[in-house]
Amino acid sequence: MDSLWKNSINFDKKFSKLDKSLDCDVCIVGGGIFGVSCAYYLSKAGLKVIVLEKDRLGSKTTGNTTAKITSQHGLFYDYLINSFGLQFANDYLHVNNNAIYEIKNIVDLENIDCDFEFKDSFVYTTSESDLDAFTAEKEALDALKFDCELTSSTSLPFEVACALKFSNQAQFNPLKYLYSLCDVVLKNRGDIFCDTCVFDFKKQDNLNVAFCENGYTVRSKYLIIGSGYPFKNVPGFYFSKMYQSTSYVIAFETDKPLFDGYYINNAPPIFSYRTALYNGKRIALIGGADHKTGKEVSYSSTYSVLENELFKYYPDANILFRWNTEDCISLDKLPYVGYYSNLLENVFVATGFKKWGMTLSNVSANIVCDMILGKKNEYSHLFDSTRINPIKNIDEVKNMAVDTTFSLIIDKLKIKDFDFSSIPEDSGKVIDIDGKKVGVYKDKNSNLQFVNPICTHLGCLLSWNDVDKTWDCPCHGSRFDYNGKNLYGPAFKNLEKFEL
Ligand code: FES
Repeated sequence: MDSLWKNSINFDKKFSKLDKSLDCDVCIVGGGIFGVSCAYYLSKAGLKVIVLEKDRLGSKTTGNTTAKITSQHGLFYDYLINSFGLQFANDYLHVNNNAIYEIKNIVDLENIDCDFEFKDSFVYTTSESDLDAFTAEKEALDALKFDCELTSSTSLPFEVACALKFSNQAQFNPLKYLYSLCDVVLKNRGDIFCDTCVFDFKKQDNLNVAFCENGYTVRSKYLIIGSGYPFKNVPGFYFSKMYQSTSYVIAFETDKPLFDGYYINNAPPIFSYRTALYNGKRIALIGGADHKTGKEVSYSSTYSVLENELFKYYPDANILFRWNTEDCISLDKLPYVGYYSNLLENVFVATGFKKWGMTLSNVSANIVCDMILGKKNEYSHLFDSTRINPIKNIDEVKNMAVDTTFSLIIDKLKIKDFDFSSIPEDSGKVIDIDGKKVGVYKDKNSNLQFVNPICTHLGCLLSWNDVDKTWDCPCHGSRFDYNGKNLYGPAFKNLEKFEL
């Protein structure tokens, strides 16, 4: 099902496909909030920009986020101080807090109707055993001289043991904001093309050339890759530095009074709450049930978890929308922003926003645009995309290695004489036929469709996702529909179909 945001705009408004090769100053690959923000800033600075989007604008993470505009990225500042030092944490805090007001300024300047509201943000726990973590986070923020408050009083419909409150944070409808920025880009002579998949880029005659699957090219001095998970593997090697996480959201209406502000708990199982406007009515969202993309999941381990939580507190709730999203997470929990690689001239990237992409996309767009415009940006050092720091998040490194190995091991198993009747209707499974791995999907009429269940990114074995009816990659999170059509990168090619 489409998200609340996609239902609130004319999401099918079509931008045309690229139908000829073009030149421009800056080509931006990816029409999410980062790419469109870059297009906004650069077109206002007088540069000729072209945005190339593989699907519809904002159809991936931007259109499925919970859209909290906040510098409170979980309990994060104690981690930042301990890992990177006080000055680093201070800069991270201030640049993200500044982004709230930068977005507000754009909303005012461009007269954008996107339900922007200032709200207080809370991280909470219901467990007394977490209190030490909250005390440490408060001490970290005190050291940064940031005004915040520990409290046990919130407007949530249940008791909390503790909550850390950041005042004057914000929320909005991300697609209303995104599409309004596009209007400004078009007014400033920019071009936007959808259903246009870029599969490679190269330097030719001193220009960067983006190659599209339909055979056309866009040549530009500057190239920005804002495709979520970067799709070019070498150089850059982003596949070795990030994984993807899927999370779920339910939007509901209720006659019970709703909470004010927005909330997220500090430890799994994660639950996140915010309110929103839908047809002029105040409704609410509950999100969570996160898992590494590619894990086997069921309705009971995803939406049901949220529904159980919801009906505990709002038994009269009427669910309006259900959706899920996918986020890139780097191993050291910081985005990669700046040069795609030291080996590529004038190619830029931003990725790895770790579920906090509303402020981080704005921060990243400012860093990249300042680099292109030759302006100094005092925060560019925070997210250096060419950093080769020792990996600090050892648990995630282990997690990735286990999944990759697991995929290779099961690839060797043989399952002979498979009985297709054991596959339920509207479900799928990887089976082995004559020594070949085959992804089988049985539709609601018991018709069978077969795909090669090997990811077109770097060859990991895919797993069946019975919630969304997709083939998901456990290695870097690419996803394909039951028919093999690529939905999420870094893969961009569809799965091969088998005729048996
Ligand atoms: Fe990298 Fe599948 S996403 S191998």
